[in-house]
Amino acid sequence: MHMSQSTPSPVASPPPGRSPARGVVISTPIPGPNARTVIERDRRYLMTSTKTSPVVAASASGCWVTDVDGNRLLDFASGVGVLAAGHAHPDVVRAVREQVGRLSHFAGTDFYYENQTLLAERLAGLAPGSFEKKVFFTNSGAESVEAALKLVRYHRQRPIVVGLLGGFHGRTMGALTMTTSKPVQRARYAPFVGGGHHIPAPTCYRCPYRLEYPSCDLYCAKILKELYFHTSIPPEDVAAFVAEPVMGEGGYVVPPPKWHATLKGILDEEKIPLIDDEVQAGVGRTGKWFGIEHHGVVPEIVTMAKALGGGFPLGAVTFPTEYDFPVQGSHSNTFGGNVVAVAASLATLDVIEKERLLDNARVQGSYLLQRLGELARRHEEIGDVRGLGLMTATEFVRDRRTKEPAPEFRDRVVDEAVRRGLVLLGCGRSTIRYIPPLIVRREEIDEAVEILDAAISAAHARA
Ligand SMILES: Cc1ncc(COP(=O)(O)O)c(C=O)c1O
Repeated sequence: MHMSQSTPSPVASPPPGRSPARGVVISTPIPGPNARTVIERDRRYLMTSTKTSPVVAASASGCWVTDVDGNRLLDFASGVGVLAAGHAHPDVVRAVREQVGRLSHFAGTDFYYENQTLLAERLAGLAPGSFEKKVFFTNSGAESVEAALKLVRYHRQRPIVVGLLGGFHGRTMGALTMTTSKPVQRARYAPFVGGGHHIPAPTCYRCPYRLEYPSCDLYCAKILKELYFHTSIPPEDVAAFVAEPVMGEGGYVVPPPKWHATLKGILDEEKIPLIDDEVQAGVGRTGKWFGIEHHGVVPEIVTMAKALGGGFPLGAVTFPTEYDFPVQGSHSNTFGGNVVAVAASLATLDVIEKERLLDNARVQGSYLLQRLGELARRHEEIGDVRGLGLMTATEFVRDRRTKEPAPEFRDRVVDEAVRRGLVLLGCGRSTIRYIPPLIVRREEIDEAVEILDAAISAAHARA
């Protein structure tokens, strides 16, 4: 790690089109004086939401963010997993500039423009399954989930949707009905939309049945048929099952092998479609276009957002053509498929292909997991290291034997890391996720791990 009080100079000459791996530069405490001013005014005027770190960005490039005091930080949060191609990728910037000067909005649900047709065609081809698909564009992950729930309710005329305890699907009322990753997200909002049921999630590190994989024989999937379908959930009333390929906000929980396949087998017997919520895992994060591709099953419906828009608000749902609405007006919006967001999206998908970022996510993701594993051998507070591609995490515990979550320790690590120039985000009860842009390089991972190592030691010293 490079820390300096003066103007930084590049430490390596970059390959063409990439910003250099310049190293972290900390010249004021974080937050610095300019950042403090912004934060004070923000607190005065902005609604309380989910802010955790006092980083006030001024500009960014690649995996690097410069704050309003001139500090240069390494971004392992990517705007919550959004910036697959990195900050300000020249191809994305060019596409947006060209588009915004020509046509910036035309209401793609009411009129026509070509680039949203091109993107819909492309997503229908990328989403798993060879069946005919259609696409609806949205502005966010929650709106994508909301649209998927409306599609299945309309098409199937059944009242129930089943999800996983710990899953996150967004905060609008329909999506929130299926979101159960933290009580604070649901407290004081009941009654929900109705029809939402949940079963325990496949969380091997904390198996709700206290079983061990593989001797458990995937009881956590089979229980849907063996217990729920015979008690509280009549299968003929189920419109859909919704699940993430890797539980994101709920703690970056990777399901065990064959869990999805076993679940899908049960759903297929009852002709219940699977809504695969790829809002966090999709568009390359796990080293495949969609996380579900690791699990070898084909979902009927896929929801996406975050990385899809290349930094602009854009979500989408892909679904079987026969689920389409038979009449106009049953569902729509104003900004979904905004022409500038679509231009950014098409450019981002091109960058992912051209720069082989799926391969990079797999290669760098396994290197990052290996490095996190090394940290786990030295820091007993790390109870678990897990991930798929560049969707990686460490879970912090008070005691490795009891696995008691250590949320305060986790928060201290995030705080110590940001003071040292590494931007991180928590998830679950006591987990930190590591989600750099998919362009991340090995030396950037080394620098992040070095900072994280120091941050964990500092958090330990503060305990
Ligand atoms: C899997 C999943 N679904 C839905 C959402 C909601 O997305 P948004 O915050 O864009 O509404 C999220 C957000 O983190 C998510 O991770």
